[in-house]
Amino acid sequence: MIALAAAARHAAAIAPAELRPALAEHAREETEHINLWGDFRQALAGDAAAEPLDPTLRCAAAWAGSPTRGLPETLGVLYAIESAQPAIAATKLDGLSRFYSVGDRDATEYFRVHAVRDVEHARDIRSQLAGLLSHTAPEGVLHGADAALAANWDLLTGVDRAVRG
Ligand SMILES: [Fe+2]
Repeated sequence: MIALAAAARHAAAIAPAELRPALAEHAREETEHINLWGDFRQALAGDAAAEPLDPTLRCAAAWAGSPTRGLPETLGVLYAIESAQPAIAATKLDGLSRFYSVGDRDATEYFRVHAVRDVEHARDIRSQLAGLLSHTAPEGVLHGADAALAANWDLLTGVDRAVRG
């Protein structure tokens, strides 16, 4: 969430004026979602002070991006993440309830919100991308999306290895 908010904040800072308000609002909303994740972690008695795994740090860096990353790449990152989230969040919500008996509202609100709200976020970014791609080559967008998803797979592999020992 922190990295996604950073990416949205960066996009808002470098976007044409007409896109800035929506991207700034997107960044604000993603920042708010950090607390929802905190509620989930707390419900599972997760350690807030635990050090992130290296692949997690790399994923966060890839999503947040550098100050020099362009708008096409940044929107590509945002779209890759946001468009995948509704199905992922719904699957996690189902799995948490079925396999871990985690269904408490506070514990699962993060997933409930993302199962719905990211449909709208993805739609908004798709619309922003459509405008951008009317006058920009798609390579940057594709590169951003590829980098975001590769880093996410790396993160998941890292978690899997850590869990299996
Ligand atoms: Fe979102």
